[in-house]
Amino acid sequence: MHAVLTFLACLAASAAAAVVDTHQRAAAVTGTAGCGQTHWFNGITQYHGLTSGGVDRSYSIHLPSDYNASLPYPLVLGFHGSSSIGFFFEADTGMSESKYSAGKIMVYPNGVGGAWAGANYSEASVPEDLTFVSDLLTEIRANYCIDNSRIYATGLSIGGGFVNTIACSAVGGEFAAFAAGSGSFYTDNTGVDVGCAPARSPLPMLEIHGGADPDVLYAGGQGEGGFEPAIPDWLSWWAQRNQCGGNTTESLFNDDVQHSVWTCAGVEGVLQHWKVDDMKHCWASTTLDFSEIAAGQGPTPIDASTIVMAFFDQFTKP
Ligand SMILES: *[C@@H]1O[C@H](CO)[C@@H](O)[C@H](O)[C@H]1NC(C)=O
Ligand SMILES: *[C@@H]1O[C@H](CO)[C@@H](O)[C@H](O)[C@H]1NC(C)=O
Ligand SMILES: *[C@@H]1O[C@H](CO)[C@@H](O)[C@H](O)[C@H]1NC(C)=O
Repeated sequence: MHAVLTFLACLAASAAAAVVDTHQRAAAVTGTAGCGQTHWFNGITQYHGLTSGGVDRSYSIHLPSDYNASLPYPLVLGFHGSSSIGFFFEADTGMSESKYSAGKIMVYPNGVGGAWAGANYSEASVPEDLTFVSDLLTEIRANYCIDNSRIYATGLSIGGGFVNTIACSAVGGEFAAFAAGSGSFYTDNTGVDVGCAPARSPLPMLEIHGGADPDVLYAGGQGEGGFEPAIPDWLSWWAQRNQCGGNTTESLFNDDVQHSVWTCAGVEGVLQHWKVDDMKHCWASTTLDFSEIAAGQGPTPIDASTIVMAFFDQFTKP
């Protein structure tokens, strides 16, 4: 029942908000094979099945309400947290609303057993879930008009961890930038060269984490699904992988929030981190969202959906 209500509220919000979508894209971008195909019910999230590795998988997709099949659009994949599905991540983050994703195509994949590969409780293996990402990109490109230089991935908790798993793999080379909220980095928890082979360097990465997260500890340790790295260690590995110098850290909101920015291979802000000292395990939002309620957390001073989209807008795949 809760699921249905959440879904309907979300449909209503996205249909109403998408009317003001604006398009900003490079003039000379070539779209994918899906350009020219007509779609119906644009602005309303729709559910699709997909077979990957012989397994039935699924995702939901939200097109801008004024989707024009002759224009190449940026694509954002949004990965839900554990015991969840794409529709909940969409509702929690509000990212299909045009104030966040104006002119972008949003896709919310569903994990096997409500989770993503990497944890000891995950039902899909890392190769299986990475193949799903690859198959999903193939399907989206074939059916929709996508700007291949502007494909992004974001996620919450184990979904954030899986975004990092993508960034550490060959298929990560298809993406322009990555962003994780309260990420549990089970597959990248040992050191700079262990379990992570990014397809290129630098590879833009952003992470937002609560200093008071009781589930995925900022200081690292045993998590629900295995060992998790200390967030500063994990950032230091990305700083090395991305050829970054030291960070500059700005303290905000009466020292509750620290925003750290690295300049990497000469490009400012390729690696970024937001630490909210008193935040628990959730998707940061200035207006109370579902994961904040579930975490016993009030609204936070920063808004993850705004930060993530602004970060993505800075980067195109070279
Ligand atoms: C779609 O975009 C093309 C290319 O910019 C433009 O010529 C066309 O008028 C647009 N269609 C609509 C319905 O806005
Ligand atoms: C998964 O890892 C956690 C943390 O190490 C551990 O407490 C838990 O027992 C493990 N669960 C399984 C099913 O292995
Ligand atoms: C930023 O750099 C300082 C100095 O090296 C380091 O102590 C700190 O952990 C870094 N901040 C983050 C978030 O990694």
